[in-house]
Parts: sequence; C-alpha cells; structure tokens
Amino acid sequence: MKMWSGRFRQPLDAAFEQWQRSFEFDQRLLRYELAASSAHARALKNAGLLSSDELICILQGLQQIGANVEASSLSDDSEAEDIHHFVEKQLVALIGDTGYKLHSGRSRNEQIATDLRLYVRAAIDQTIQQIGELCSVFGDRAGQAGITAMPAYTHLQKAEPVLVAHWLLAYVEMFLRDADRLAGCRARLNFCPLGSGAVAGATVPLDRKMMTQALDFSASTSNSIDAASDRDFAIEFVQALSLLGIHLSRWAEEMILFSSQEYAFLDLPEAFSTGSSAMPQKKNPDLPELVRGKCGRIIGNATGLAVTLKGLPLAYNKDLQETQQPVFESAGIVLQMLPLVTEFMKSVRFDAGKMLQAAQSGFTNAWVAATYLVRRGVPSRLAHECVGKAVQLCLERGCELQDLPLADLQSLNPRFAADFYAAITLDSVLAAHDVPGGTSPARVRDAIRDARERILSLSQEAHAHA
Ligand code: ARG
Repeated sequence: MKMWSGRFRQPLDAAFEQWQRSFEFDQRLLRYELAASSAHARALKNAGLLSSDELICILQGLQQIGANVEASSLSDDSEAEDIHHFVEKQLVALIGDTGYKLHSGRSRNEQIATDLRLYVRAAIDQTIQQIGELCSVFGDRAGQAGITAMPAYTHLQKAEPVLVAHWLLAYVEMFLRDADRLAGCRARLNFCPLGSGAVAGATVPLDRKMMTQALDFSASTSNSIDAASDRDFAIEFVQALSLLGIHLSRWAEEMILFSSQEYAFLDLPEAFSTGSSAMPQKKNPDLPELVRGKCGRIIGNATGLAVTLKGLPLAYNKDLQETQQPVFESAGIVLQMLPLVTEFMKSVRFDAGKMLQAAQSGFTNAWVAATYLVRRGVPSRLAHECVGKAVQLCLERGCELQDLPLADLQSLNPRFAADFYAAITLDSVLAAHDVPGGTSPARVRDAIRDARERILSLSQEAHAHA
C-alpha cells in the first residue's frame, strides 16, 4: 500500500513512479530508520497511542526487519518508494495492520531529517578515527626521519632547507584541522528532529526528550520548520570533506612530483603503483593520482549540494531528496581513500641522500647568509642586496655561496669574516630557524611531541564516540 494514495483518482505514471523513488540509495539509512522508528514507537506508547502489546509487537518487528536485511540484500524491493515506505511495508508484512500504527503523529519529513543526521554523525566518527590513524603514521614517519633535510619550496623554486619531519608535520596540521572541522559539524548537527512532524510539530504529545536520549542526540531541535528543512549539516559535512580532499590532493601532488626522476626524493611503494602496458620501465603513481582525481568529485558534490539548497523555500521540498547522494558519495570516497593513503605513507621510502643533496644546493642558505650580515649591523635591505650579488657571482662561476673565497665576499662587504662559512652550513641554517613552529631540530622535536599528543587526544575522542 502506498503511503499517500487516498486523495488520488488516477494511478501514477509508471515512468514517473520509478523516477521519483529514492529507495535505491536511501536503503543505506535502514539502521537509522529502524533506530528512529523504535524511539518513535516508545513515544507513541507513552502518549497512549499504542498498547504495551502493540509496542512490543512493533519493536520486535523492527528488530526482525534489521535481522532479515542483514541476512539478505535490500535492493530487491521494486515497489518501496523510499526507506520509510520499505520499513512500513515490511512491518505490516510481519505483524499485520498494527504496523500501520507506527506512522501515527509523524512525517517522513522529520524521519529523513533524523536518519540523515544519524548517518552523517556516524560517518564523521569514522572519518575522524581514520584521520587519527593517518596522522599517527605521519607522526611516526616524522619521528623516524631524524635530522634528514630536504628543500622547502616557494613558487616551486628552492627556498630553504627544512627537516623532512617538519614537512611531514605540515600535513598533520592540515589533517588535524580537518578533524576539528568535522567535530564542529558533529556538535552542530547533534540535535533530534523527531517530534517536529511535517512542518509545524507533532499532533500528538510525543516525549521529545526521551526520543533524543534514545538516539544519543545532545538535545531536541528548537524549531519544527527549521528541523524539517535544515540540511546545513549535510553541506558542512561535504564541505569539510572537500577541504580534507584538497589537503589529500596537495599531498598527492607532492608524492607524484617528488617520485619523478627529476626530484627522486621518494620511491613509490610497488604495492600501490602500476606499470605501463606499453613502456616496460614505468612505475606510475596511481594511488596519489586517483586521490587527486577523486578530490574533484568531492568538491563537485559539495558545490552541487549547495546549489540544490540555495533558494529552496521553507520547509520540506522534494528537492531535499537530492541532498542524500552527494553526502553518501563523498563519505564513501573519503572512507575508502583514507586507509589506502595511510598504508601508502607507511611504505613509501624516502631517499635521504637525494633529499640532502637537493637541500644543500641552489643557494638555500642565502637568507641565513644575509642574516649573518644583519647580525653584524648591516641594514637588512643592504645585506639582501649584497648576498644577491654574491649569488650572481656564484652563478657566473657555477658554484655555491660557501665556495666563494673570503676576499671576494669582503670586496662585496667588509663585514664578511672567516666565521661566515660555519654560519651557512646546512646544520647552521637549520639551527638558525629556532622559533616555535620553525624547522630547527630542537623545535621539530618539540613539534613531534606536541603533534603526537594532539593525535592521541583525537583518537581518544573518536574512540569515545565509537
Ligand atoms: N524520500 C524522501 C526524501 O528523501 C522522504 C521524505 C518525503 N517527504 C515528502 N513529503 N514527500 O526526501
């Protein structure tokens, strides 16, 4: 039986009927639909609309539906309009007409709002947990990297040397912000719409507090119109995933770049690379390439969802059915991708020799060289100019700053002295960046410890929600 056929004289156009269904994708909400329905049934009993026997019957029926579905596959119901209709049909098949009582005093509008919140909440918990695991691996690799150095780039031109650990920790910062954004989204979505009815609130005295507690929400929603029409949580979620995707995509780009023969900073793990059907020598970075590619779809989903919501009048409109797939797809992509990235990061091999070589060439010590003069009283603009001239000299001679004889340096500025050479070695340059957040070995050691603590507390929080 349809959920709404009473006022209609004509049957639905067959093609339209199929086209407007959402069961194909909203069936993944089943467990949340069952949980929310059980809470609603209890509230109906407390409101005097179900007898104790009817409640037991309905609760057992709902449980049975869950068990049946676990044993088989859902998707073979070709009539169910959506997950709400499916559960009603199944319930009536199991317990008879009492099943129809479950829908008393509620609307599918609040049901889908509730189910989708529960889905997003669970997806957030899973994502945060996976981010914690990814960050742990970055933290471990940073710990193992010791004092290995590499060049840092600005404009993709060599800028200054940094510790490999410092570079890895930059990603930890991004991912920890992603986790934090998801946690913020979780806190803002964690309100229970049940009892909001179709738009104006339930027409029977449902105990909203009880339903809220049963579903582990922090409180009930405050306005029935907003509760039925709000999809902010879905937008926030897919946007937070977009930013995570952007971070992963930037990571992917660096993996691809640094694994090329031109950089050769790292060796791609064979278990996550593929060969070429034509060129026998190739080992291609497919994992990071696909991460970079899939990020496009995640951003597309976030954009699409925002456009779907823009301009909708309050409260429920069928357009809202279109908000589900972007959420499901983005969550699916991210939850499949993160563990693969984690494994890839565990096994990627850094070539410390190549990185060191690159870190030491290309005048990556020029800024510290200028600072040497500044410390000796030379105004920084003039010191900059002077070292620029020294670089020019090196370019003509095909050497580095440390290769210039002192006499040549002193002809550029008399403040250069013999201790200049010790001031611009790689170790000195690294040690010079000795501010919190900088790349000196001591600061990076602190940063690793600090990052590990934050990763741990993230994992503990994720665990508490699991
Ligand atoms: N399948 C619908 C959706 O996802 C459920 C809500 C239907 N509500 C309605 N008034 N037709 O949006």
